[in-house]
Amino acid sequence: MTVKENILVPGLAGIPAAESAVSYIDGQAGVLEYRGIPIEALAEHSTFEEVAWLLLNGRLPTQAELDEFEAKLIANRTLPQGVLDTIASLPGDGHPMAALQVGYAALGMHSPDVNALDPGQRQEAIARLIAATPTLVAAFARSRAGMDFVAPDPTLSTAANFLWMLNGEKPEDLVGRVLDVALILHADHTMNASTFTARVVASTESDPYSVCASAIGSLKGPLHGGANERVLIQLEKIGSVDAVEGWLDQQISAKGKIMGFGHRVYKTKDPRSTNLQLLAREMFETFGSTPMYDIALKLEDAVVARLGQKGIYPNVDFFSGIVYQKMGIPTDVFTPIFAIARVAGWLSHWDEQMNDNRLFRPGQIFTGTHGARYVPISER
Ligand code: COA
Repeated sequence: MTVKENILVPGLAGIPAAESAVSYIDGQAGVLEYRGIPIEALAEHSTFEEVAWLLLNGRLPTQAELDEFEAKLIANRTLPQGVLDTIASLPGDGHPMAALQVGYAALGMHSPDVNALDPGQRQEAIARLIAATPTLVAAFARSRAGMDFVAPDPTLSTAANFLWMLNGEKPEDLVGRVLDVALILHADHTMNASTFTARVVASTESDPYSVCASAIGSLKGPLHGGANERVLIQLEKIGSVDAVEGWLDQQISAKGKIMGFGHRVYKTKDPRSTNLQLLAREMFETFGSTPMYDIALKLEDAVVARLGQKGIYPNVDFFSGIVYQKMGIPTDVFTPIFAIARVAGWLSHWDEQMNDNRLFRPGQIFTGTHGARYVPISER
């Protein structure tokens, strides 16, 4: 294949980096599908565990297949003591995403080596990593607060068990289900930055712990998964419904980004945001509203009125933070929750990449000089 030289597409926007059958987005129409199934149907009828199986295997599981997968996840929720000790040794004022990165590396060191070219070994590692992620996140959240680790409860779903391990209390059914749906909505999203990162690392035939740890570094950034945390900080800064218009005026004239809005692919409302807004409404109707929710609704109207014609609408991060805050989850644990879900997507892409791998090695457009003289340090 010949490559056109001297044409750079910044951020590789719209340039295919792989062939993939895992998920599909139509950014103009606001469509997201996992393995062909619209996200709305999965949010209404499915569970995170079933969606993870779907992403990994390309079709919905039978009851027996789902039972087997769930049992495997439950068995892998318990971490080796050495991993828990590593998590407990981390500084409590560090970011939980950094702790998760450490956790993945530690888990890899306490687990059998994985031959990335062996599909059977990949499946075992995938279950281990999906199951371990919520335990790693909850273990750090508790250890930094000086609280004992809460052992996983095998009777609970991934979502409800995470809340149990985080808070030491079983969540209300509605709260567990809302988090379950949030995990479904975040599980995959085509060639986003962290998935691209995962595939690049995968292409070196590195191990899946490194694949996930690298993807965490990518997800952490404020232009990607880190935005949900910043949405809440932004709403707190605005402070009241009456202050929304004035704050937005200032932000637009300063050419500042409004967190939770805009998307590289969606030029209409992100369908995940629509689903999360429904969940938020249900949570607030059941458990009472918060000022943040009211400010968020006003901000959505104001931003869409001012910037909608530029294709700037709420993205998935806009409502997720408000929902998690209502669940009592600390702000800096929002992005790790994104990771609890997205690890299923990363590993589906890892498996797909390994089935037809070629090492990523893009080109560049050289903008430097040639033949420069080495100047001895005494002459500089
Ligand atoms: N607030 C204000 N203006 C925004 C904006 C936002 N959130 N997102 C995009 N824009 C503006 C840009 O300033 C640019 O304006 P210009 O044409 O006058 O220069 C125009 O819309 C196109 O934006 P661009 O940054 O090229 O879009 P992108 O597709 O590269 O960016 C994001 C996508 C996600 C990086 C961007 O929308 C953003 O930073 N959003 C906030 C962070 C966020 O919520 N991230 C989570 C994504 S799921």
